[in-house]
Amino acid sequence: MSDQDIGKRRAAEAALEFLPEGEVIGVGTGSTANYFIECLRDQRQRIAGAVASSEATAERLKAAGIELFDLNSVGTLPLYVDGADEATEHRQLIKGGGGALTREKIIAAASRTFVCIADASKLVRRLGAYPLPVEVIPMARSYVARQIVALGGRPVYRQGFVTDNGNIILDVLDIHGLDIVEPIKLEQTINNIAGVVTNGLFAARGADVLLLGSADGVQRFG
Ligand code: 5RP
Repeated sequence: MSDQDIGKRRAAEAALEFLPEGEVIGVGTGSTANYFIECLRDQRQRIAGAVASSEATAERLKAAGIELFDLNSVGTLPLYVDGADEATEHRQLIKGGGGALTREKIIAAASRTFVCIADASKLVRRLGAYPLPVEVIPMARSYVARQIVALGGRPVYRQGFVTDNGNIILDVLDIHGLDIVEPIKLEQTINNIAGVVTNGLFAARGADVLLLGSADGVQRFG
């Protein structure tokens, strides 16, 4: 197992401490979230079930014997556990490398506590080295791309990828040209472009707790 995988696994194990007994929780998408699902398999009797942030996660949860719930059939979730592509110590994130950003943002918004789990290499001083994913309604692809160029970014169409919501992803490079110094402002600016469903900046609603795993242990922020 690589050091990164050890870190992911440790962060996932540490998140078990937050499990609310007998309740429905939100579960994210990606390799770190998959480690969390593996951990949950043995603890599944502690929760009532889970809301999945993607079809892939739903499949894994089902295979782990965890009952699936629709977000519309449950109230505010007590806990959401998910990974990130980048994280700051202020718990602002870039997410969506796996393309599940919209459902992830919805579940994060509908949860009281968002625990972000990642390996320590995801910690950055300033967000933006990782390409920022933007989910876009297909007919708006060119228009949104032009607007992002006008803002100073370089959008790249994620070829051959369709989100669970039937949309496309533009990955924005050169994000530093977009003044990531103010991530909440940039998150809002991009979300205000017609045709954008949402973008992968989790700044207005970042994580409440960030758990960063490494071979040395788990570092907690928040
Ligand atoms: C998926 C995500 C993931 O949380 C993010 O891409 C991190 O993935 P991994 O845990 O595989 O590093 O936002 O849309």
